[in-house]
Amino acid sequence: MAPPPPPPPPPPPDDRTTAERPGTDRPFEIVPSVLPADFATLGAECAALEAAGVDRIQFDIMDGRFVPNLTFGPDVVAAVRPHCSVRFEAHLMVHEPDWMFEPFVAAGCDLLIVHAESVLHLHRALGKVREAGAAAAVAICPATPISAVTHVLDLVDMVLVMTVNPGFGGQDYIATMEPKIAELRRHVDDHGLDVDIEVDGGISSATVAGAASAGANVLVAGSALYRDSEGLAHAVSELRSLAEQTR
Ligand code: DX5
Repeated sequence: MAPPPPPPPPPPPDDRTTAERPGTDRPFEIVPSVLPADFATLGAECAALEAAGVDRIQFDIMDGRFVPNLTFGPDVVAAVRPHCSVRFEAHLMVHEPDWMFEPFVAAGCDLLIVHAESVLHLHRALGKVREAGAAAAVAICPATPISAVTHVLDLVDMVLVMTVNPGFGGQDYIATMEPKIAELRRHVDDHGLDVDIEVDGGISSATVAGAASAGANVLVAGSALYRDSEGLAHAVSELRSLAEQTR
């Protein structure tokens, strides 16, 4: 059997100064995934995340078809909405999710993340997210190149580069995504686009610097927040500090 292909080469050294790399002036945002939270008390869990200083909260919406896991729908998000005031984003790990856009906006989500791999007509789907009244973001799985999204960057506020295969929390960070993050950051900056880059999956104190250095500025973490023995606020503050130290 042929040996596995070598990992992709590291991104070329970026000899531009920070000032010449506009993407590096984007503030870091720490966004918890609620996947590890206690679903029996999700409202209180989200209030605790807000108190811990998160910038917004991500709801992992899984349909059992796009990913081999099943979580919850807009009714659960709507039930949680009154318990805190931070913005909500819905990560739609859903096959053909167009019918869900309006219900999730009505439930209180400000940002909807659509997987490029989940729709036949991505450009149309992102336009429908904006018509529904939410900001739009597009997500790409580990095997998906940035070329899958370069023609819709004018429609989105953010690109989510998955650093695990979607469907479960607690997976190992895929470091070979860092060249892809750097390539996307260069593309966004070189085209003068106002687009955040979010990463999701295996983000922790051990991996956040690599993702931030590559160009991500929105950092989703689930298990790393909940396993911090010093509590949520410490975990949020530590991730933010470690990201900021990369600049
Ligand atoms: C993947 C899930 C996870 C979750 C965070 O489908 O979306 O990435 O948000 O998981 P961990 O525990 O790796 O931070």
